[in-house]
Amino acid sequence: METRRLPKIELHLHLEGAMPPGLARALAAEKRIDISRAFDASGGYAFADFAGFLRVYEAAASVLRGPDDYARLTAVVAADLAEQGVIYAEMFIAPEFCGGGDPSAWREHLAAIREAAETAQAQGGPILRGIATAVRHAGRAASRVAAQAAAGTAEDFLVGFGLAGDETAGRPADFAWAFDCAREAGLGLTAHAGEWSGPQAIRDTLAALRPARLGHALSALREPALVDTLAADGIVLELCPGSNIALGAVACWADHPIAALRDAGVAVTVSTDDPPFFGTDMSREFTRLHDTFGWDEPDFRAITETAARAAFCDAATRARILKTLEETG
Ligand code: ADE
Ligand code: ZN
Repeated sequence: METRRLPKIELHLHLEGAMPPGLARALAAEKRIDISRAFDASGGYAFADFAGFLRVYEAAASVLRGPDDYARLTAVVAADLAEQGVIYAEMFIAPEFCGGGDPSAWREHLAAIREAAETAQAQGGPILRGIATAVRHAGRAASRVAAQAAAGTAEDFLVGFGLAGDETAGRPADFAWAFDCAREAGLGLTAHAGEWSGPQAIRDTLAALRPARLGHALSALREPALVDTLAADGIVLELCPGSNIALGAVACWADHPIAALRDAGVAVTVSTDDPPFFGTDMSREFTRLHDTFGWDEPDFRAITETAARAAFCDAATRARILKTLEETG
């Protein structure tokens, strides 16, 4: 099946995690930073497990040293998304990396990202929006700083707040203050949960943080009552099968819970997470879903419409996206 031409929406894409290794190497060379251990012999990112992935991710992010670097990255990512037929994407951006946790530096970085996103859009690229994310293993205090930075820049470009990083660090309730702060600022809320932890962690995340969307939530399928709750409450899942398989959270495509969750009435969407790390892109995700579960054009259109309805953008932007989907039907 030719999936490239289908219109797509990504709701779960880490900006730093979307940096091609070539750009990371170029920025490292320009700044004389040695991150050679982050790469394998063929020049790709090198990691053996999730802990290794987080280390390499942070090494790669360390070469992004100012607003101009983030603008360059945004332009490259926007071009890759356009190539994949992505019409709208929400990018996770961590104030911890982007501005080093300093709110005024964050504001400057975000302005540069926004400008690059608008330039790309004006040249026919996708509509891009930002979701500020707290890094879970950076702790509760850092999450408060991230939330305050996000709240101070909540506007039409920055539309959400989320939680990523090592799920085994801390408890969901540790991040409740940050989520309340972001909610108060009108930001849409999402949290990684159930990628590495069990169903109880998903329940705790829902109770403590009250997000509209969850990243991954793979373990929900182990508990039918939780699946029913997700379906009944309209919690939208940002699923990233290629990422889960590359990191070993799921053994193979046939074992991925996306089809079973969808059949159980849960709102599922498809994203790439950190595409150059996992050797994936949106077309590849769609192709593998077609090959594994027999999903076809109507299934992909339904998934994309679910994503449009779950996007954190304003109503006018959502109407534009839905119209584009209709016109490309
Ligand atoms: N940050 C970037 N990718 C991530 C993932 N898959 N899980 C948690 N944190 C992340
Ligand atoms: Zn993620």
